[in-house]
Amino acid sequence: MATHNLGRSTFGDPKNAGNLMNIAEAHQLLNEWVPNDRLRLHMKQVAAVMKAWAIKKENANEQTALNWELAGLLHDADWEKYPDDHCRIIIEELEKRNIDPEIIHCIASHGPNYFGVQPENTMDKMIYAIDELSGFVHASALIRPTRYEGMDAKSVLKKLKTPSFAAQVSREDINDSISRIDTSIDELIQFIIEHQKDVS
Ligand SMILES: [Fe+2]
Repeated sequence: MATHNLGRSTFGDPKNAGNLMNIAEAHQLLNEWVPNDRLRLHMKQVAAVMKAWAIKKENANEQTALNWELAGLLHDADWEKYPDDHCRIIIEELEKRNIDPEIIHCIASHGPNYFGVQPENTMDKMIYAIDELSGFVHASALIRPTRYEGMDAKSVLKKLKTPSFAAQVSREDINDSISRIDTSIDELIQFIIEHQKDVS
C-alpha cells in the first residue's frame, strides 16, 4: 500500500464523545461503499475480533465494545472506491456524522506507517495488530482443505516465515504492531482464529 499521510493528528470533535452509529447503520454504509464481498468479509472479521477482544480481554461494557466493533467494521470502508485517498474519506464521513472521536482516531491509526498517525490507546493498538494478522489468518485458512477446522497458531506462524505466502502482507508491520501490545503473537493469532472463523 502506498503511503497516504493524513497530515493531521486530531480527529473528530471531543463534544461528540459517546456518539455511536448503530450496527445496522454501519452495515448499510459498508454495503453501499464496499461492493467487494471479500473486503466486506475482512472488515466484518476485524470487527468481530475487535468486539470479542474488548469484551473478553478489556472487560469492556456494551457501549465500549460497540466502539471497538464499529472501528473494525469501518476501518477500510473507503479502500475500494477511493484507494488513493484511503482512510481520509471515511474519516471525513464519520466527522460529518458527528461520530465519537475515539472511533475516528482508531481508524486513522490502523496503519501508522501509511497514515502517519500513531496508535495511542489500547483500541488503536489492537486494531493495528489485528488488521493485518486477521487477513493473514484468513489467507492461511483458505488454502487448508478443512479451512478453519483444526487450525492452530503454529501453522500460521510457519506461513509468516514463508515470504512468498501472502507476500503483500507486511511482516514488518505485523512485528511493529505486536511490539506495541502486551500480547504474544501466538496468543493473538489463536484469538483471531477463534473469533473470526464463523464470520460470514
Ligand atoms: Fe484492514
